Amino acid sequence: MANLSEEECRALLRQLDGVVLPRHAGIIMDGNGRWAQQRMLPRKAGHRAGAETLGSIARFARDAGIEYITFYTFSTENWKRPQSEVQGLMDLLHNYLSQSNKYIGENIRIRFLGALSALSPELQEECRRTEEESRGNTGLNMNLALNYGGQDEIVHAARSLARDVQSGALAPEDIDVSLFSSRLYTAGMPECDVIIRPSGEMRLSNFLLWQAAYAEFVFMDTLWPDFTERDFVRALKEYARRSRRFGGR
Ligand code: IPE
Ligand code: IPE
Ligand code: MG
Repeated sequence: MANLSEEECRALLRQLDGVVLPRHAGIIMDGNGRWAQQRMLPRKAGHRAGAETLGSIARFARDAGIEYITFYTFSTENWKRPQSEVQGLMDLLHNYLSQSNKYIGENIRIRFLGALSALSPELQEECRRTEEESRGNTGLNMNLALNYGGQDEIVHAARSLARDVQSGALAPEDIDVSLFSSRLYTAGMPECDVIIRPSGEMRLSNFLLWQAAYAEFVFMDTLWPDFTERDFVRALKEYARRSRRFGGR
């Protein structure tokens, strides 16, 4: 966990001059547990360090001019972890959300993607309040994918369309890619251009399945708590080098 100085960050931002940036970047924040284990610390210390990385990468993304960034914060499968770890993650989220003036002052708009109804009533209220209070911020759209699963999201969208077909508001033929997209948690947002996953794992783990249809993938070995703005710039430059064809030629 190395915090870069403002001067170093400014130099890194200059490196991005003229580089084609993603409109929407997805980040799978992975490796907190291994980071803690390497230091003989409890896993929660890894999650705490990871939360700090999230803050510094979000600020950097804002300064670089990225429009949307989605951080995978807690998956629909992460409930399988020991209750103490799940509780630790929820406590961290609570701490993060209770410092609301921080993100308001940072001009970052926060939205949550996922089945929030499974969270405690207090957390649900904090998520709602955070979205509301940061609504007018224009520097960066930051999504926190929380109790999020790509499969769950698609089922949720299908159910909402099925309801409209059942009530007669829609005909099955009306359902197309654009209508389906409008029922996802990311309704109205651009598709994901790049998915960055640190920690050496090369899989999606149920993240943005629909939105990543044409995303570029950048896998890196660094563990998330060690991930710095320098690694982010490396990932962005790698993305810019890719030739995206979307099935054309
Ligand atoms: C990612 O770090 C954080 C969450 C999934 C909430 P991990 O906790 O998965 O860390 P590793 O993969 O065990 O190192
Ligand atoms: C993905 O990481 C979920 C988040 C980063 C929130 P995991 O650590 O849960 O994924 P797997 O189990 O290695 O696939
Ligand atoms: Mg992991």
